[in-house]
Amino acid sequence: TAPGAHEATEAGRKVTKVGVVGSGTMANGIIEVFAKAGYEVVAVARGTEKSARSRDKITASLNKAVVRGKLSESDRDAALGRVNWSASLDDLGDVDLVVEAIVEELSIKKALFANLDEICKPGVILATTTSSLPVVECAIATNRPADVIGMHFFNPAPIMNLVEVVRPIRTSDETVATIRSLCENLGKYPVVCADRAGFVVNALLFPYLNDAIRMVETSYAEADDIDYAMKLGCGYPMGPFELLDVVGLDVSLAIQRELYNELREPGFAPAPLLEQLVTAGYLGRKVGRGFRDHSR
Ligand code: 3HC
Repeated sequence: TAPGAHEATEAGRKVTKVGVVGSGTMANGIIEVFAKAGYEVVAVARGTEKSARSRDKITASLNKAVVRGKLSESDRDAALGRVNWSASLDDLGDVDLVVEAIVEELSIKKALFANLDEICKPGVILATTTSSLPVVECAIATNRPADVIGMHFFNPAPIMNLVEVVRPIRTSDETVATIRSLCENLGKYPVVCADRAGFVVNALLFPYLNDAIRMVETSYAEADDIDYAMKLGCGYPMGPFELLDVVGLDVSLAIQRELYNELREPGFAPAPLLEQLVTAGYLGRKVGRGFRDHSR
C-alpha cells in the first residue's frame, strides 16, 4: 500500500463515476488507476483508433501487473470491465469527476474546460493533470471555478504513489477535501500545494535535470556516466537522462519554460540541447528516441 493509503475519510462529495479525457501515457495510466480502485470510468479519446490503442495499452499494463503477481486475473478482468471507451465528450453528462489529461497547450485545455462546463452536470469536479500550466487558467475558462482543481499524477501513474493536489485561489475547500479523500481511495498520497510553477516536485526536480543537460552540453561528463553517478551515488531509481526520456522531452521543455517564466532564475532557462532535441522530434521513449534510442 501507498504510504498515505490510510482509510479514506468521508469528506466532500460522492464520486463513483469518473471521466478521463485523453489517450496518451498519463491518461492511460490514470484510467488504469481508477478502474483498479473500483471506479466506473468513461475514457474519452479523439476517435475510435486512439480509443483502441488506449484499450490495448491499458490491457498490456494490467497483464504486466498480473505477471508480476500484483493483480489477479479476475481483478484485471473486472478493472477492464469498468472502463467504457468513447470518442465523444457528450458521454460525460453523468460523471461525478472529469480528469483532463490532454496535450499541454493552454488554448486547447481552455477550450476543453469551456466544453466540459456545458456538458457536465452541476456539482461535478473538473480536474486537470497539467504539469506546466497554471490551473487557474482552466478554472476561469468555466463558470464554476470553485469546482476546478489540479490532480498532478506522476509517470508511471499506476506505480507512482503521489498526487499533487493543486489548489488555485478560486477552488473551494469542499473540492479540495473531495479530491484528497479520492486520492486516498486510489491508494495515492495527496500533497496539497499552491498553483505555482512546478508545484512541489517539478520545482525541485527540473533545475537538476536541466543542469544535467548543461553538463553534457559543456562536455563536463557523458550522459551515461551522469546517469550512473546519480543512481549509484544517490540511490535514484533512474538517472536524469533516463528520467527525461520517460517524462518526454516536450513535456520537460514546457515545465522548464514555465519555471523560467515564473521565477526568472537565469539558470532555469531551458538548456539549448533540450530545445534542439524537441525541435528534431526526439521526444523520448514515447516516440522511440530521446536522449537515447529506444527503437529496439
Ligand atoms: N502494475 C502494477 N505494478 C507494477 C507494474 C504494473 N504494470 N509494473 C511494475 N510494477 C511494480 C513492480 O512489481 C514493483 O513493485 P515491488 O517493488 O513492490 O515488487 C515496482 O512496480 C517496480 O517495478 P520494477 O522493479 O519492475 O521496475 P523498476 O525497478 O525498473 O522500477 C520504476 C520502475 C518504478 C518506473 C522506477 O524506474 C522509477 O521509480 N523511476 C523513476 C520514476 C519517476 O521518478 N517518475 C516521476 C517522473 S516526474 C513526473 O512524472 C512529473 C511530470 O510532471 C514530469
